[in-house]
Amino acid sequence: MPATLTEIASELLGLVDSALDRYTDFGPGCPDELREAIRYALLGPGKRFRPLLTLLACRACGGNYEQALPAACAVEMVHAYSLIHDDLPAMDNDDFRRGRPTCHKKFGEPLAILAGDALLARAFEILATELRPAALAQACCAVLAEAAGACALVGGQADDLAAESARSASEPSPTDLEQLESIHRRKTGALICASLKMGGLVAGADPESLKILERYGWCVGLAFQITDDLLDECGCASEVGKGVGKDRKYGKLTYPAVIGLEASRDLAAHLTEEACEVLEGLGPQAEGLKLLARFVLSRKK
Ligand code: IPE
Ligand code: IPE
Ligand code: MG
Ligand code: MG
Ligand code: MG
Repeated sequence: MPATLTEIASELLGLVDSALDRYTDFGPGCPDELREAIRYALLGPGKRFRPLLTLLACRACGGNYEQALPAACAVEMVHAYSLIHDDLPAMDNDDFRRGRPTCHKKFGEPLAILAGDALLARAFEILATELRPAALAQACCAVLAEAAGACALVGGQADDLAAESARSASEPSPTDLEQLESIHRRKTGALICASLKMGGLVAGADPESLKILERYGWCVGLAFQITDDLLDECGCASEVGKGVGKDRKYGKLTYPAVIGLEASRDLAAHLTEEACEVLEGLGPQAEGLKLLARFVLSRKK
């Protein structure tokens, strides 16, 4: 991370991690092993990219970090659930994540599935109970539910898997690019957009500012998944913290597979510049979001 982003992040990540810890201190109804599986997946060494987006979006729209913490934690919970399920044998069948065994490798498939279910439920419970006024809680629940739902994250994941089995024997076709962009926008871009939108909503942003956040979010969201594809193709497993080379092995529909490495890097760079330009409309308070967009391009994990 660039120096100033490191400084911003070191303050904010502490806030986010202690709130995530507090929010998963489940009562006696929660079996010990389930609690452990939930906290293993959630509190492990992830980048917390989406919570940072929420907090920085709130700040960019004149709010403060504290008021955006419930939304920041909710989005990280949905993200952590999506990773647990993404890694299952029925989906990407991955054994390593964040430099450690995946949740199902450590706790078994049944408990991993249930840990994901619990995280999804807890995310909405936090929005409903921690955000006030009630209209704000309702608006954030609607934004997050749409992004996590059948036409967005879950739909993108379903098409990601369908494309894998459809393509494994064939070369990329011209229509792949359209399908690829649609998958990446839904499986990854939508949650990134929702992270930003909730930050704006918490700050009471006007519709124009929300639109800017959304446009920035679609650029950064697509760039984020393109760089994830690039890291799978060219990254170093110990640095990335998860298996590499698997997308190619399983015939995944990815940017490097369809347009090649150089064009993928160029596209991610172009999207990042576009994201930063869009932010001009929010003024100097959006500097943190600009740094975060540039971090996406240079990230090594
Ligand atoms: C991985 O997300 C899954 C994608 C959507 C590409 P991250 O790269 O944000 O994973 P963590 O949270 O830092 O582990
Ligand atoms: C996952 O995309 C997107 C999600 C919604 C979880 P990937 O399958 O490429 O993510 P990684 O590479 O396993 O983290
Ligand atoms: Mg996947
Ligand atoms: Mg995966
Ligand atoms: Mg990947």
